[in-house]
Amino acid sequence: MTDHVVAAVADGILAIRLNRPKRKNALTVAMYTALADALERGDAEKSVRVITLTGTDNSFSSGNDIADFMQQKPTPGETPVLRFLRVISTTSKPLIAAVNGLAVGVGVTMLLHCDLVYAAETATFELPFVNLGLVPEAASTLLLPRMIGHQRASELMLLGEKFDAGTARSIGLVNAVLPTPELDAAVRERATMLASKPPAALRLTKALLKSETTTVTARMAEEVAQFSKQLQSPEVQEAFAAFMQRRKPDFSPFA
Ligand code: COA
Repeated sequence: MTDHVVAAVADGILAIRLNRPKRKNALTVAMYTALADALERGDAEKSVRVITLTGTDNSFSSGNDIADFMQQKPTPGETPVLRFLRVISTTSKPLIAAVNGLAVGVGVTMLLHCDLVYAAETATFELPFVNLGLVPEAASTLLLPRMIGHQRASELMLLGEKFDAGTARSIGLVNAVLPTPELDAAVRERATMLASKPPAALRLTKALLKSETTTVTARMAEEVAQFSKQLQSPEVQEAFAAFMQRRKPDFSPFA
């Protein structure tokens, strides 16, 4: 148990907050475990439609706790870090990150597994793995070049220089940059919008967006299989009925 990760559900939104501001939200083994537990619970809990992730004060996360790193010995099997990375990369519900301040190391690479990322204008980003004699993790050497191209990913990962929220926005790592005091409300608004949408359609669309199928033909087949199934679903019936009756659809009964 740790109080360095705070999780609470309200209005269909599971809000997870990193809460170790004295250490700039550096992640300990206990925090990885708490994060993975919270994400797993949120994914399983029917009332949760959307998950948000943020930090405290001026820190999103300064990455892995270096003191923890120094004590770590190679261990067989799934470590808490690897469990967290597996869970965040396979969470089926929409995951929104609110980068409220500095993001370093895994504080950045975990964003590659989020579906929407919003940043405060004061947020900074840094991938210092090489400078520490390490290599990047969390499949970031696959996902970042795919997202921003080889040269730009190399610039961020080989030089390891800090970059600002505007740069993060221009390369597509974040969706939008907001004035710092407005970040929480903006993320809450987006999360509320998602929470009112048909949940199965959201989950299936997220799964398609993250599908590893790479040919157009195979992807179309994957889409059409889900499309046909969804056409018969109560969510679609509610959407169509609401359209015909000129009212707002209500997807709250669905999970
Ligand atoms: N692990 C352990 N402790 C950390 C930490 C981390 N990743 N990041 C910050 N801290 C600690 C600092 O040691 C400091 O402790 P102290 O109060 O006992 O001196 C405290 O958190 C506050 O950090 P500080 O360095 O004073 O804040 P800053 O605003 O000047 O700098 C950082 C913030 C994140 C830029 C700087 O702390 C840093 O570079 N940390 C290491 C980041 C890193 O390399 N992470 C691993 C990536 S793989």
